[in-house]
Amino acid sequence: MKIIRKGLLAYSLTGVILINNAFGYSQEERIKDMRAMEDGLQQMQKGFLYNNLQDIQKGAELLKKHTAKIEPPVEGADEFKRSYAYDLTKREANKIIKLADEAVKEYKEHRARQAMNNFTKILKQCMTCHARIRKW
Ligand code: HEC
Repeated sequence: MKIIRKGLLAYSLTGVILINNAFGYSQEERIKDMRAMEDGLQQMQKGFLYNNLQDIQKGAELLKKHTAKIEPPVEGADEFKRSYAYDLTKREANKIIKLADEAVKEYKEHRARQAMNNFTKILKQCMTCHARIRKW
């Protein structure tokens, strides 16, 4: 009896994992990642304002970690829109990750203005994606 129950438990856990994979990246996950990205940006901004490299680095790491995970909403989109959305997401995410690294590097090398420049460019990438695919 015990063995059967264990078997059933393992079976239903597998089922949950399969269902999660079938549905892919959910809206909840996206919203969670987006909020974490915002937190990362805020921490970076705090670092600039308080002249604290550690905050800039930590914020950049948080931002990069979640940016690397994002996927666009494609429910109901046709093949064309779908591939456009994935391409755009990959491109914007890569830019954000690269800009975050550059911001840290510039700040470390005492080029605060260039670091801030990279920071504002990150925000622009966020807005590009929001304007193009957020409200499909
Ligand atoms: C792939 C394109 C894309 C990029 C790039 C992107 N976002 Fe988003 N963002 C979305 C979409 C789509 C939503 C709507 C979320 C939903 O309801 O599924 C969203 C929603 C949000 C929200 C609202 C979350 C909520 O609570 O409803 C915030 C905050 C946010 N994004 C921050 C950011 C920040 C900060 C960046 C840049 C570092 C960024 N986003 C880059 C697509 C993007």
